[in-house]
Amino acid sequence: MRLRPVTSRTCLANTLHIPDTTDRQERYDALLPQVKALLDGEHDLVARMANTAAALHQALGVHWTGFYRVVDGELILGPFQGPVACTRIPHGKGVCGTAWANNATIVVPNVDAFPGHIACSPLSRSEIVVPVRDAHGRVVAVLDLDSSVPGDFGEADQQALETLCAWLIPPA
Ligand code: SME
Repeated sequence: MRLRPVTSRTCLANTLHIPDTTDRQERYDALLPQVKALLDGEHDLVARMANTAAALHQALGVHWTGFYRVVDGELILGPFQGPVACTRIPHGKGVCGTAWANNATIVVPNVDAFPGHIACSPLSRSEIVVPVRDAHGRVVAVLDLDSSVPGDFGEADQQALETLCAWLIPPA
């Protein structure tokens, strides 16, 4: 069956190519240019977050991938892929609220060892949270990835996800 295009442009969303390898770096190397291409065609931040979350989730196969946005002094659930999640997180609370308060990436190899970790799912064993900053360096959202595998996130993830988050805010 032929699929009709959803816009007048060619829709790249259903043609994501992820190499058949367990090597995370190789997956990121293939994924990042494809996400860049998706972002380049769209200036709406929620749409950019939505496709970024979907692409990461498909490429990495982790438990949960998504964004929380800073709205009126708290984090509110944004575009995500995976099981339903907590909708609001206070500043400084949990891994997400702490990454926001510190304006820094947090890698958590064992969620049980992180004081105040907010367990949206009992299956989550490790986590990485990366701030999304505006042009002034202020945190406007965080990207959160949860894995059911302990110690699943490291240097390669931090580097690639920080690159993606730096691309997210559309140019003025
Ligand atoms: N574990 C996060 C909460 C968000 S969910 O994992 C999707 C935290 O401690 O902030």
